[in-house]
Amino acid sequence: MDPLFDLAGEVVLITGASQGLGRRFARVVAQRGAAVLLAARQTGKLAALEQEIASAGGRAAAVQMDVADVAGLAVAVDRAEAAFGPVTVLVNNAGIAVEKLAVDQTEADWDMVMGANLKGAYFLATEIARRMIVRQHGGNIINIASVLGDGVMKAVSPYAISKAGIIHATKALALELAGRGIRVNALAPGYIDTDINHDLWATPAGEKLIKGIPQRRVGREEDLDGAILLLVSKASTYMTGSVVTVDGGFLLA
Ligand SMILES: NC(=O)c1ccc[n+]([C@@H]2O[C@H](COP(=O)([O-])OP(=O)(O)OC[C@H]3O[C@@H](n4cnc5c(N)ncnc54)[C@H](OP(=O)(O)O)[C@@H]3O)[C@@H](O)[C@H]2O)c1
Repeated sequence: MDPLFDLAGEVVLITGASQGLGRRFARVVAQRGAAVLLAARQTGKLAALEQEIASAGGRAAAVQMDVADVAGLAVAVDRAEAAFGPVTVLVNNAGIAVEKLAVDQTEADWDMVMGANLKGAYFLATEIARRMIVRQHGGNIINIASVLGDGVMKAVSPYAISKAGIIHATKALALELAGRGIRVNALAPGYIDTDINHDLWATPAGEKLIKGIPQRRVGREEDLDGAILLLVSKASTYMTGSVVTVDGGFLLA
């Protein structure tokens, strides 16, 4: 294995690992030798993934975690670290969207989206960063943003606002933590076919969206493998505060 991308010795905590991109990221980093902590609310799905990774010779442990429950994060991280030791890499991937026009979004919708995508991600990053600072071994945090943190689309305004926020949080945390040897970067995917949007692509609205992507196709989960490996691994040692966009050219159009 290329030593640049060898993750042996890393303990990678991935939120939203029960399905979609988080599950894919877990498989990718486990294959490269990392011990993976699989965090989400749906524990049945986490257990199935834990077993799949173990059967393939990897190391994984499921941890129930609601990232929006900020008061419960420290205990959840304690439980996670009991499995494989200190977290060396955090992938803040958990995220949700409520699809309604802005005039129909409720305060509860806003709180749910912000709670998971921005507040939860921010406070989990700071919880992990505090532990990394005490241990004095540096660390690595990757926030999963979105092209909608830059451009906007109708009917997902709290989501887009939360993703713009996580891009800014990435830069603010990167600046504060660089001196402690902790890197903070973001991965901003375009449209990737996952459980969250799978039914959309065959509809007229989905076909119209695909026509707006310069590469003329929706992304596949594996299209992010290279970018996540870059950010998780030593290959990105001199990167911090960066946003890596993987969108088939969507933001150009
Ligand atoms: N797919 C795309 O086209 C796309 C594009 C750009 C960005 N993204 C971003 O990529 C990330 C993953 O998206 P996806 O497409 O894989 O979506 P998905 O299939 O709906 O998966 C979302 C994951 O987030 C977890 N989650 C949601 N709320 C949570 C909470 N409060 N606490 C803990 N976990 C929570 C869910 O797990 P539980 O329900 O088990 O808790 C699930 O595992 C999100 O941040 C999303 O915004 C996706």
